[in-house]
Amino acid sequence: MSELASPRSPILYLIVCAAPPAQQTREVVPLLQAAGWDVCVIATPQAARWMNTQALAELSGHLVRTDYKLPGEADPLPKADAMLIMPATFNTINKWAQGIGDTLVTSILCEALGRGSPPVVTVPCLKMDLVRHPAFSRSIALLRECGVHVLHEPERYPSPLMVPWNEILATLHEVTQSNG
Ligand SMILES: Cc1cc2nc3c(=O)[nH]c(=O)nc-3n(C[C@H](O)[C@H](O)[C@H](O)COP(=O)(O)O)c2cc1C
Repeated sequence: MSELASPRSPILYLIVCAAPPAQQTREVVPLLQAAGWDVCVIATPQAARWMNTQALAELSGHLVRTDYKLPGEADPLPKADAMLIMPATFNTINKWAQGIGDTLVTSILCEALGRGSPPVVTVPCLKMDLVRHPAFSRSIALLRECGVHVLHEPERYPSPLMVPWNEILATLHEVTQSNG
């Protein structure tokens, strides 16, 4: 038997909020796995209603987390090397920027922001009416100031829909390379 352990795949937390692309998480996980990531799915309670968490657990090989563990329980997921929030809702983005940790997702994101690690890529998905709400631009500016990579460029993508897949993968690759 070889003495050398094979290098492990980097762990990616795929964080899913309650916007329509949450329903495509089952298609997204294999794409991320094909790009070399060991994917752990974490969903907000609202997003979890839109997903088959059992099927995603089988696909990813990890429990799909939606809620807090109890005191004294071990963390059921390995530590993340990077996080991708896709889709990121208006609600979660604003709570994250304001420091409101009232779901497992916002708590994980607030802690990552405070710690400055791991690298986080965020793909917002929201209506233009919500893009124009003054809280949104303030939240995005604060998150970017704190080093979060927000893939939201209304001037390049006039529709508030999600940015191209190859750009998401390239950004993830870039932020993890520059981090380590
Ligand atoms: C059918 C439907 C579509 C929605 N689409 C969006 C959306 O694209 N973007 C968004 O920010 N919120 C959207 N919402 C609202 C969010 O689901 C709602 O704000 C929710 O509280 C978000 O919770 P979360 O941020 O914890 O996932 C939608 C709600 C419904 C019922």
